[in-house]
Amino acid sequence: MKLKCVYLFFFACALYFGFSSFTETNPYFIITAKDIEFTNPLGFPQPVYDFKNNPVTPEGFTLGRKLFYDPILSKDSSVSCAFCHQRIAAFAHIDHPLSHGINSLIGNRNVPAIQNLIWQQNFMWDGGINHLEVQPLAPLTNNKEMDETLAHVLDKLQHNKSYVADFSAAFKDTVITSGKLLKALAQFTSMMISCNSKYDRYVKGEQEFNPQELNGLQLFRSHCINCHKEPLFTDNTFRNIGLKPDTALADSGRMRITGMAGDYMKFKVPGLRNVEMTHPYMHDGRFKTLQQVLAHYANGKFFTNYDRSIEKNTGLTAQEQADIIAFLKTLTDQQFLHDRRFADPNFR
Ligand code: HEC
Ligand code: HEC
Repeated sequence: MKLKCVYLFFFACALYFGFSSFTETNPYFIITAKDIEFTNPLGFPQPVYDFKNNPVTPEGFTLGRKLFYDPILSKDSSVSCAFCHQRIAAFAHIDHPLSHGINSLIGNRNVPAIQNLIWQQNFMWDGGINHLEVQPLAPLTNNKEMDETLAHVLDKLQHNKSYVADFSAAFKDTVITSGKLLKALAQFTSMMISCNSKYDRYVKGEQEFNPQELNGLQLFRSHCINCHKEPLFTDNTFRNIGLKPDTALADSGRMRITGMAGDYMKFKVPGLRNVEMTHPYMHDGRFKTLQQVLAHYANGKFFTNYDRSIEKNTGLTAQEQADIIAFLKTLTDQQFLHDRRFADPNFR
């Protein structure tokens, strides 16, 4: 009799999960208009991204999230965006110096965090892409990442009943186009905003820093702010910080895009929010820890035609380096890292 009850219970569960969509019924995953309201965080500049051309709606955001977590976007359905961009790492990839994609192929660069994209003019380490909605075309078609064609992805989606329903809910049309695919993804990624770290609360006067963090902040403001400008911790420029060129990767950085010799080894200044979670570091993931990053700035062994402003970091003492790291850790934003809106909707 007891056993029968257990069977019945599992049967009921199977019915429930089989016939109703998990994400549509679970409050954890439901996105309401309130969830996607945008107000510019205090002290942040005006966004570069223009929401007017792609207003975020609950349906569009939910579709973007589904696409982001769906390996259907890759040639053999093995690699999703989230495969490389892990939520717990602010959507960077913990532990891989270089990205891993389809057929376990290793890419040429470290997976960057995805956060505060709407304030960026340029994407990728070399700034090779300058519009958020165009960006997904790069991983989609890269033969070491998802190795797909846009036409084939659209064909797969158009033959998928669930996606046809999702696209028509989001865009009031059953025809799935590349424009709608890219807009849906941008509705999701544009909302990935990190603005509630301990640093933000300190700036607003809501939380105190301990003496070490305070000293770290002061050192940071005198040594690093030239490039890692508050509140986004990047000035959106490309700089050469004197890293030894990796001859195997032969990555010339910004020069790949501009063709100008002066741009050799220049890379986009990364925003440092959540940097505690986004290891390894630099465009090629060469440093595993923040200690190694600080040691690079402090040891003064700089290569090629580097930006002279890093010279003043030479000789930072071990204590000063530790204080700067204590400050960098105040940029960790638990609310962002655990934000239910960005969770994997397939996770049960
Ligand atoms: C195989 C791993 C991989 C996959 C899959 C992948 N990415 Fe990336 N992503 C990367 C790497 C590596 C970079 C940096 C590339 C470069 O600088 O050349 C990047 C860069 C980005 C950036 C730019 C961030 C910035 O600050 O410049 C965004 C946005 C992004 N990816 C979103 C996506 C989306 C959306 C998808 C799915 C359509 C996706 N990625 C799939 C590895 C991946
Ligand atoms: C001249 C501009 C400049 C200055 C000054 C500067 N940085 Fe950077 N920083 C960069 C650039 C550019 C990169 C990326 C380089 C690359 O990947 O090749 C970077 C990378 C980093 C990273 C790795 C982030 C990641 O996501 O991989 C950290 C951490 C960092 N810097 C911290 C600091 C600290 C702390 C200071 C001050 C002691 C500082 N930086 C000073 C330009 C600068």
